[in-house]
Amino acid sequence: MERQGIRTIVAAVLAACFPWVVGGAAEIEISEKHLVVQGGKLYDNWGQELKKRPPRETHPAYPTLGKKKGMDTWRCKACHGWDYRGKDGAFGDKGSEHYTGIKGIRGWMGQEPEKAAAILRDANHRYTPDLLSEASIKALSVFVTRGQLEMEPWIVDGKVKGDAQKGRVFYQTICYRCHGLDGKKINFGDEKEPEYLGGAARGNPWEALHKIRNGQPGEDMITLGAMSVETQVDVLAYLLTLPEK
Ligand code: HEC
Ligand code: HEC
Repeated sequence: MERQGIRTIVAAVLAACFPWVVGGAAEIEISEKHLVVQGGKLYDNWGQELKKRPPRETHPAYPTLGKKKGMDTWRCKACHGWDYRGKDGAFGDKGSEHYTGIKGIRGWMGQEPEKAAAILRDANHRYTPDLLSEASIKALSVFVTRGQLEMEPWIVDGKVKGDAQKGRVFYQTICYRCHGLDGKKINFGDEKEPEYLGGAARGNPWEALHKIRNGQPGEDMITLGAMSVETQVDVLAYLLTLPEK
């Protein structure tokens, strides 16, 4: 009897202090897609997503021939590209500001996430636990092994193989709330050199597709990660019709 009473008191105290645990949140089953979109945002810019400052020094693995310096060189995309193909992909041109000469991560599609996790902790990558927690490494490794997309069939010579008419319906029911019907409600540049959705997507359709699939790090932007690749590409095709200025 007494034990029962203590248990009730303990449960009440726990519920008061940790309502999210006792309330059943601990039982929520996490889907693979959730880890993919979280990992995709970390791949894009983990510092921005986790509100953490990467080391100030240029990443030791970043080649001197690359054009970036400092914190930006700790972003996965800085070395492996928006199409995940590194030197063999869209940024393989030595004149490109994204060129690093480093190979892509495509070979890791379909492999074991645990093995990919070990790569990120290695002496080459140097993502120590104070930079990326176990949970972040897990999401990244699920992204690397389950979340990459072969973009080549969809973006050919800068042209997008999607149906802009179909994409418009998604844009005008989802994206317009934040980006505006003309894609100009958010300025990614500054007052002097504004950049809007249309121009951004035309300038780098691989980046736009990555963000459509995985969201924008550190922002409340939604993702179309659960929708078909066809739909994601249709939306991308529509973005290319939006005005530059
Ligand atoms: C500063 C550059 C740099 C950054 C940033 C970087 N990597 Fe790498 N990565 C490399 C280099 C160099 C290799 C080794 C390539 C080789 O073996 O030739 C590599 C290899 C890999 C591989 C194995 C590829 C293969 O086929 O062997 C994976 C997976 C990988 N990186 C994932 C990531 C992820 C995820 C991030 C972000 C958390 C990241 N990398 C950030 C430079 C970088
Ligand atoms: C809840 C608001 C919200 C919604 C809904 C939303 N976005 Fe965004 N989006 C943002 C914010 C905020 C940014 C980052 C702005 C910045 O970096 O200044 C962003 C950035 C982007 C970028 C990156 C542009 C660049 O080059 O930096 C793309 C591409 C994009 N959004 C596409 C879309 C598409 C397509 C949809 C609909 C499927 C969508 N967004 C829906 C808020 C939203």
